[in-house]
Amino acid sequence: MAKVHSSYVCQQCGYASSKWYGKCPECESWGSLVETIVSTKAKGSKFKATSETKEGLKPVSIASISSRKTSRASTKIPEFDRVLGGGVVSGQVSLIAGEPGIGKSTILLQLAEKIGNVLYISGEESVNQIALRGKRLGIKKKTVLVVEDTDIDRIISLTFRYLSSGQPLNAVVIDSIQTMSTTDLSGMAGSVGQVRECAYRLVRLAKSTSVAVFIVGHITKVGAVAGPAVLSHLVDTLLWFEGDKSLTLRLLRAVKNRFGPTDEVGIFTMEDKGLVSISNPEKIFLSGGRRAVAGNVASSIMQGLRPILIEVQSLVISSKLAFPKRVAQGIDAKRLELLIAVLVRRCGLPLYEHDCFVNIAGGISAKDPSVDLATCLSLASTFFDKPIEKKSIAIGEVGLLGEIREVSGQDRRIKEARRLGYSNIISSKTSKYLNQVIKRFVK
Ligand code: TYD
Ligand code: MG
Repeated sequence: MAKVHSSYVCQQCGYASSKWYGKCPECESWGSLVETIVSTKAKGSKFKATSETKEGLKPVSIASISSRKTSRASTKIPEFDRVLGGGVVSGQVSLIAGEPGIGKSTILLQLAEKIGNVLYISGEESVNQIALRGKRLGIKKKTVLVVEDTDIDRIISLTFRYLSSGQPLNAVVIDSIQTMSTTDLSGMAGSVGQVRECAYRLVRLAKSTSVAVFIVGHITKVGAVAGPAVLSHLVDTLLWFEGDKSLTLRLLRAVKNRFGPTDEVGIFTMEDKGLVSISNPEKIFLSGGRRAVAGNVASSIMQGLRPILIEVQSLVISSKLAFPKRVAQGIDAKRLELLIAVLVRRCGLPLYEHDCFVNIAGGISAKDPSVDLATCLSLASTFFDKPIEKKSIAIGEVGLLGEIREVSGQDRRIKEARRLGYSNIISSKTSKYLNQVIKRFVK
């Protein structure tokens, strides 16, 4: 049996005490004392460094290490595979972080069904609740085994027992890390000490058994709760699951990935029967064959390495207010102010006496300035009440001088737009200044 002794250690200066203080007696920082295990004497521990021999540590030349090719097992959920970099690597520990209710349990239950032979450990919901969700998701496989428990050591020994009895196991799902605890620490489940220690034990489990582990971690709107922030360095992969809960769109973003790209994004929609992979996002962001309407301009944003076509819509109406309204949804409100100033000063549009509303359809946000040109064209188009011709797309940043600037990945965006049938591509390649574009396409 491992001998365990815990104490409160200051995260700032390393001061250790058997008692908890709100303020560290040594460095005087508030709330920095976290319950930590200080000695674990596990005799004959299974977890031995690979370079350790009887005589002690032995360095190995990097060239002499035979690197095994990482074998990946597909999750059979296309968008999940995309984010992981092709599939799950054996022994990979992934943390899925997101606000409560965003769909973490749903996606992991769906994943469990797809990969099969999964232990789904729930500390949040009863097996009945999970069974109800499973019914809703149409899960029929018998190889998804559900366990209701919160004691991490019992869960780990269950996994070992399961494996040693020769039964196949592809993954363990822990839902969620905030509900797990070990009796070696006296802190409550969800405290920084418990969360960190439980995750550490799960990482050791994954590495020693080569079973993939998926951990759910809740965050709040502020994103500062004990969980993802404390765990990101422990896990191999950190995935953020985000989206507006009132809409169906969900994005799964790889923030850290030891086995794949970090700029990939998986796109899903939440339907009645669970999350659905969206491989052709233009379907939800573009209005398709509808007739051209003033104020509707297509553009392209990058989500990871993938260009996604979206629609910028706007309304311009004469204002009765001393300070006309500027409402932006999906783009930065300050950016909208700036673009309106450029339209007023460089293109002569009297928007100072108009309320302006801009929205990106479908609930997605554009964080890069590549939608500037589309936003300006959309505003000008509603102002003159003249639709931009169909099959047009605007990609470009607008500078304060009214010039059109190239954006990152422009060629890839243009290629994708061509593939989807856009023949008139307005960018820095076709025009130098915004007023030329407005004259040509709107006035
Ligand atoms: P859930 O996976 O429980 O969220 P989390 O584990 O991140 O807290 O998702 C809960 C929400 O998803 C809930 O509001 C209902 C909705 N939902 C659907 O819309 N369709 C479905 O098929 C399921 C299972 C859930
Ligand atoms: Mg849940």
